[in-house]
Amino acid sequence: MARILITSAIPYINGIKHLGNLVGSQLPADLFARYHRARGNEVMFLCATDEHGTPAELAAAKAGKPVADYCAEMHEVQSEIADGFRLSFDHFGRSSSPQNHALTQHFAGRLAEAGLIAEVSERQVYSHADGRFLPDRYIEGTCPNCGYDRARGDQCENCTKQLDPTDLIEPRSAISGSTDLEVRETKHLYLRQSQMRDQLDAWIDSKADWPVLTTSIAKKWLHDGDGLQDRGITRDLDWGVPVKKGGADWPGMEGKVFYVWFDAPIEYIACAAEWVDAGKGSDWERWWRTDKGAEDVRYVQFMGKDNVPFHTLSFPATIMGSGEPWKLVDYIKSFNYLNYDGGQFSTSQGRGVFMDQALSILPADYWRWWLLSHAPENSDSEFTWENFQASVNKDLADVLGNFVSRVTKFCRSKFGEQVPEGGSYGPAEAAAIEELTGRIKAYEAHMEAIEIRKAASELRAIWVVGNEYLQSAAPWTAFKTDPEAAAAITRFALNLIPLYAGLSAPFIPDAADAMAKAMGLEGAQWPGSAEDTPLVAGAAFTVPDVLFAKISDDQREEWQTRFAGTR
Ligand code: MF3
Ligand code: ZN
Repeated sequence: MARILITSAIPYINGIKHLGNLVGSQLPADLFARYHRARGNEVMFLCATDEHGTPAELAAAKAGKPVADYCAEMHEVQSEIADGFRLSFDHFGRSSSPQNHALTQHFAGRLAEAGLIAEVSERQVYSHADGRFLPDRYIEGTCPNCGYDRARGDQCENCTKQLDPTDLIEPRSAISGSTDLEVRETKHLYLRQSQMRDQLDAWIDSKADWPVLTTSIAKKWLHDGDGLQDRGITRDLDWGVPVKKGGADWPGMEGKVFYVWFDAPIEYIACAAEWVDAGKGSDWERWWRTDKGAEDVRYVQFMGKDNVPFHTLSFPATIMGSGEPWKLVDYIKSFNYLNYDGGQFSTSQGRGVFMDQALSILPADYWRWWLLSHAPENSDSEFTWENFQASVNKDLADVLGNFVSRVTKFCRSKFGEQVPEGGSYGPAEAAAIEELTGRIKAYEAHMEAIEIRKAASELRAIWVVGNEYLQSAAPWTAFKTDPEAAAAITRFALNLIPLYAGLSAPFIPDAADAMAKAMGLEGAQWPGSAEDTPLVAGAAFTVPDVLFAKISDDQREEWQTRFAGTR
């Protein structure tokens, strides 16, 4: 039995994510977790909400709530939606947890002892009206590059230029609008990741099996321009992990917190401690410390491409720099973007389908199947309603759903709701088994390699085998002259339903479960081989309800209009 640690990039707390976010991290991670559990491996699948930083503070202010309350509520909302999509996290934690506070401060202390933290005096904008410094998005003004008058302190949305708050022309506070601002000296901590460039470079070089998307982004940051830059890891904010060295105060850092991108990945680890404290398990260190049992763990991360630099460079720098035996990632699966109907998903314009909306119109399996079978692995991909309708109607309704319904209904009408006895298997069954055996092997190989689109198309081909078998064996014709032969064909076809349930469960867990239960089994089970016959003659079954309803043209058009944007 292998032990697999899986993390998905932790979603920001502010707002509900769209389907592009889902398919870029949480959903493929869930597919992988379900597959490995089904294969009998020991899995720890962790995710959390990313709760610190200016976006959280600003969203809370907009909602008129204290930021801690806002985060607690939004965590519940995101947690329920994750359940709705059947994301099977072992724990869905919070980066604002006490466990993460302690661990983040611990890492900072270790890094300081190792000489990897520099204290740097910086010029920052201070607002008299607000009584505070204005980092990142707390300040707005005119972009020095393009003249856009609502550029933010960290970036101009219009021309995308990265900015420093002090670059803005005619700056004003995003909180109060005040222009009574002053540039003051203040001290901040920098992670000296440039010191670790060679170590990181060698580590990336040792990962020859990683997706090119992952390594190319890492290499670009390591070698482009001035190479890996040291990074500020503290901010003048109230909400966040207070800057401390382990448990001790950090002189000169009073009132400051760690930057969100410093504490967020540490939450991957802290989340396992939360899992223990929530009473769900014991001994989290055996997943995370190579001196305490994690030496045989395989650790796989899932994320969108924009997250790759932090996971290939900054977070490994934190781990390596600590000098402690924390588990480093073994494989990073990264994704391109999913676009929406000729453009981008847009949170501000309400363009595209968001996770809560998706579940309000169709069950999770429909979305899971489309998203995973179109995962943006090798390039960006695009959601269109036409494509979604075609996939659901063909793959799920016509191929899988129709197979299950035809076999069970035929059997009910001729033999009753129990597996018929009599007859024996011949060359047609042997040929189907041979094809299935080869395809299952290929399917397993794609799942192991996290080649999601390839796995999906192999699974679809596995479903097609059943339809083709049924079509050519034609038990309805055989029944007229040779009922025993028809019984054998039906028994064989019925046994494909639990086989399909087991193989399909990582993609479409609810339908798989319904299929297995209709066949009188407890739940979907990974098959030992294509020859498994869990349904013996005489076993009772029921004809399941329609597994997948087709999407009509009217529905498609209505949804197309509804989600076209501007909320
Ligand atoms: N919240 C970030 C995003 O949605 C991802 C954080 S991943 C972690 O892009 F490594 F920081 F945890
Ligand atoms: Zn600009």
